[in-house]
Amino acid sequence: MARYAYVNGRYIPHGDAAVHIEDRGYQFADGVYEVVTVLNGRLVDEEGHMKRLERSLKELRIAMPTSAQIISMIARELVAKNGLRNGLVYMQVTRGVAPRNHAFPKDVKPALVMTTKRIAFEGQKKFTQGVPVITVADIRWRRRDIKTTSLLPNCLAKQAAEEAGAYEAWLVEDGCVTEGSSSNAWIITKDNVLVTRAPAHEILNGITRQTILKLAAEEGVTFEERPFTVEEAYNAKEAFVSSATSFVTPVVSIDGRPVGNGGVGTVASKLLEAYQDYAAGRRGQAA
Ligand code: PDD
Repeated sequence: MARYAYVNGRYIPHGDAAVHIEDRGYQFADGVYEVVTVLNGRLVDEEGHMKRLERSLKELRIAMPTSAQIISMIARELVAKNGLRNGLVYMQVTRGVAPRNHAFPKDVKPALVMTTKRIAFEGQKKFTQGVPVITVADIRWRRRDIKTTSLLPNCLAKQAAEEAGAYEAWLVEDGCVTEGSSSNAWIITKDNVLVTRAPAHEILNGITRQTILKLAAEEGVTFEERPFTVEEAYNAKEAFVSSATSFVTPVVSIDGRPVGNGGVGTVASKLLEAYQDYAAGRRGQAA
């Protein structure tokens, strides 16, 4: 089956899809994106992703390329055209094409691009065996709540993780973990309290993160939204990361030190199961 991309109003074979060299996304990373999981053909937390896309654009004063309903419709059409059952939809909006000049161009039309990617989520080892993470300095800008395509510090951090044989890099600022290079960071303390950073300018308010908090409440897991130190993470009973593509991925070591007993923890397992049920539509919408 041919794989299509959506580019500014047209569905084009993926290999032929292209944008203009003066797209501001290419020149200035002047754009935002969303990654939406597709599970059994369903878009998971579609509404949350659409709302965050609108918010990111508003914060950067980029116009919506079209209505949220039409963007959703395009995403579904692309999923159908590509015969995608499990994977993700990547959507990106940039300020548009204009002669290079830092200040915003006048009368520019935002550009909308979408692609899909196939992923077999079922039975992935990371869910059953957990993953190592490392810590690195958080060198990003101060508006991490905006899901911008400007991800160079995140790429550098992820590369450091990969070179260290780790799955993710936890970013550290003022002695506290902000989040992962492409995920939110969580610990469970020795007193069984789930801790993750509160949504503010310091982190991206993950859509998966928001769903997990609702599921945690339903499952009777006590949680606190606050910063935690690297030391606290080293001494945690459990840890995990969350994102559209990593769901709840247990963390079994941080900087080479085993977390808890070095295995997958019970709270992380419970939340992963709850999240998988929710994402597959086997569990009602989290309240
Ligand atoms: N990343 N924090 C950062 C820095 C992220 O890039 C992401 C997601 C998250 C989790 O957000 P969500 O739960 O909405 O996926 C947190 C996506 C998956 C990516 O860049 O591929």
